[in-house]
Amino acid sequence: MRTLIRNGTAIINGRAEKTNILIEEDLVISTKADPEAKADKIIDADGLYVLPGLVDAHCHLRDPGYEYKEDIISGTRSAARGGFTSIACMPNTNPPVDNAAVVRYIIEKSRKEGCVNVFPIGAITKGLEGNELSEMGFMREAGIVAVSDDGKPVMNSDVMKKALIYAGQFGLPVISHCEDLNLTDNGCMNEGLTSTILGLRGIPSVSEDVMVAREILLSQYTGVPVHIAHVSTKISVELIRQAKKRGIKVTAETCPHYFTLTEEACRDYNTNAKMNPPLRSRDDLEAVIEGLKDGTIDIIATDHAPHHFDEKNVEFEKAANGIVGFETALALSYTELVDKGHLSLSQMIDKLTVNPANMLKIDKGKIERGKPADIILVDFDNEYRVDVSKFASKSKNSPFDGFKVKGRVKTTIVGGNIVYEDI
Ligand code: DOR
Ligand code: ZN
Repeated sequence: MRTLIRNGTAIINGRAEKTNILIEEDLVISTKADPEAKADKIIDADGLYVLPGLVDAHCHLRDPGYEYKEDIISGTRSAARGGFTSIACMPNTNPPVDNAAVVRYIIEKSRKEGCVNVFPIGAITKGLEGNELSEMGFMREAGIVAVSDDGKPVMNSDVMKKALIYAGQFGLPVISHCEDLNLTDNGCMNEGLTSTILGLRGIPSVSEDVMVAREILLSQYTGVPVHIAHVSTKISVELIRQAKKRGIKVTAETCPHYFTLTEEACRDYNTNAKMNPPLRSRDDLEAVIEGLKDGTIDIIATDHAPHHFDEKNVEFEKAANGIVGFETALALSYTELVDKGHLSLSQMIDKLTVNPANMLKIDKGKIERGKPADIILVDFDNEYRVDVSKFASKSKNSPFDGFKVKGRVKTTIVGGNIVYEDI
């Protein structure tokens, strides 16, 4: 079976170029194919960008244990609809991913029933409790690509130091959810004018900053790289910028909500704008964009965090943290960063493909001869309003419902198979 993607626009060495891609079975066999090459199926990509499938370094698939929010089938369909062909899922499931059996479960179910490539992330500590290191070696043999206690910080600095050393021996990237729980002190939104007006307990930005500083110091001390998840504050960005200048092996991600929304979105007690870390101030948002521009922030991740309607349809303090992310990430990034002139298209795509693949050390994020055909076709001129009722995710908790965005995924191909088509 041969498929020819004809007349699309690719980004080659940072420049847009017309391209014809030939796929045989699951592999790319030519990136400079003859437009008249013989094929069983021809996809006309005229007017569309032909890009590597997106790579998400941070999502929550909720499987096993919370399948009422999402499962591997719905989660991977949601990813495909958003243009993600490889996704790394966090271990805060039930049971948590802190042993090889759960890793094997996720990998097997994803292979059988998922429609994109799933890369599990294992826990740093047993039960995500922050005390005892997990069996990273066994989990690595079973297929994890990184470790994280995401959803929670590793509060004990000695445990985190040992985690870096231990993970470093297995070559496993360590992804840190940076939050000092004592400083968070049961807060539920960013500390500032809006939290005061709403009468809600605030989370100070320094709760994130002190932990970013700690991870940088521990990485410097151990010599082991660290990756900072969902950067949301101005000071975090500055700390990472300075650390990189000093040669410390730190990488960082942010998520579309931190460069599109501020704490103001929580007005009216909108629980769909509640997440952790919380939406911050305009100053923070601008600093995040600066960090993306100058390369301080390497990666755009979704932090896709589906929750059931009933878990959001409660008082703000009681509502679950997180928003669904797969199906809006590309369009929000394009609309806010590229269309507004902050990043080139090529810079944005790197932050959604090769950069996360490099951090996770997975061979994804590029269209290359001889490699699996994970490819998306995108119409960046297509302007539309986000409609959460159309999401493939089981959950609809997005603050972006009704937002006008540009950039629609038309086709998603994983391993040579079309897994999503916009019709
Ligand atoms: O908003 C969030 N939701 N932040 C996290 O760190 C965890 C995530 C979740 O699992 O729902
Ligand atoms: Zn997190």
